[in-house]
Amino acid sequence: MRLDKFIATHSDASRTLAKTAIKHGQVKVNGVVVKDQGCKVSDEDEIVVHGVQISASGEVYIALYKPSGVLSSTGDDEEGETVLDLVDGFTHRPLHVAGRLDKDTTGLVLLTSDGAWSHRVTSPKFASEKVYHVTVLDPIDDEVVEIFQEGLMLRGEEKATLPARLEVLGEREAHLTLTEGKYHQVKRMFGAIGNKVDTLERISMGCVTLGDLEPGEFRELSDAEVQSFL
Ligand code: URA
Repeated sequence: MRLDKFIATHSDASRTLAKTAIKHGQVKVNGVVVKDQGCKVSDEDEIVVHGVQISASGEVYIALYKPSGVLSSTGDDEEGETVLDLVDGFTHRPLHVAGRLDKDTTGLVLLTSDGAWSHRVTSPKFASEKVYHVTVLDPIDDEVVEIFQEGLMLRGEEKATLPARLEVLGEREAHLTLTEGKYHQVKRMFGAIGNKVDTLERISMGCVTLGDLEPGEFRELSDAEVQSFL
């Protein structure tokens, strides 16, 4: 496909805008500035316009390491820095947050322009596993593993929590695997058994992990990671 057509097809830019950007040297193909509007490109080529990568599907899928103090909400209901601020400039497309974290919770957040994919990642119907590293204030009793496995009633909920796997790592430290995402779920589950979460970090969602990311950093998901939720 011609370069100007590729840009117009896979972004919000019109064909005219795409041509202007190419003419002014604002488009790179595989790292090299290309000024030929008719240059042939394919889905395998990396096309960057004004520093923003255009993907063939037009959809964007990002794994972000949310630091503490950053909001997952994308509206303006609360003041402060949001996860969208951390990926500012990466894409022009509006992004959904697939599974929010509390302001003081750190770890993996998935951001995408693909609303259907976001729904799939977060829907309990598809039961994708989310693993949390938790530290708590009081020692974790042995019976908690079974209580969480069986499910427990949280105040204000009509149904018990789905079976959750607790792997105790130390006296006050564990990995908790959930397949749903009720409001403040991990904190409320520990609260329900008389303990209190001290620190909470989401370390994976499905097969996507934090990997080498540092707090505040993000990366694009691979095709395999995107497909793993479908
Ligand atoms: N459970 C919580 O309590 N908080 C989070 O941020 C995520 C899961």
